[in-house]
Amino acid sequence: MRVLGISGSLRRDSHNTGLLRAAAELLPPGAELVLFDEMAGIPLYDEDIDVEPAPPAVAALRDEIARADAVLISTPEYNHSVPGQLKNALDWISRPLAQSPLRNKPVAVIGASTGLFGAVWAQAEVRKVATAMGASVVDRELPVGQAADAFTEDGRLADDGLELVLADLLAELVGEGRGALVEAA
Ligand code: FNR
Repeated sequence: MRVLGISGSLRRDSHNTGLLRAAAELLPPGAELVLFDEMAGIPLYDEDIDVEPAPPAVAALRDEIARADAVLISTPEYNHSVPGQLKNALDWISRPLAQSPLRNKPVAVIGASTGLFGAVWAQAEVRKVATAMGASVVDRELPVGQAADAFTEDGRLADDGLELVLADLLAELVGEGRGALVEAA
């Protein structure tokens, strides 16, 4: 089972890329996370250049999503919304709509911000956009607030409860049902 991780941040020391790395360690056995590392190469969307052959980074994103069994997006929040670079990448792979590699693909959205609320508005908007593109979106969120203090030195989430929520969300994403958290409720 291959999960493609897409970080909405281009920043070298991004908390959201870190969150994807933490998620990789929590996937159920048999699932692996592959990080998409060509986001910075995706040009601004322009219908005039949305022709074959696609810009290389766009083609790579389409291929990686098509190869993946599921997609995990970790988004920062910029001004209470989705960062432009992430929305731009999603716009590229939304056309033509019937052929979007995200169509019917299981997608989960998580997020980290240095503010208190853990990018919840951005996560909600990414879920909305992915739903509009026909993805099969997990109706859960993972708000990692105060991200500068949210990780241990070895890159795990410092909050055990949050880590449990993330593991549970990942189990749902890869189709292993809802995990211990829900069973315990
Ligand atoms: C932010 N940040 C931010 N944080 C938040 O909680 N709500 C917000 O609306 C915003 N808005 C915002 C706009 C812009 C342009 C920037 C650059 C930053 C702070 C943001 O959470 C912080 O920079 C994170 O560290 C970004 O995520 P990465 O890059 O660490 O993954």
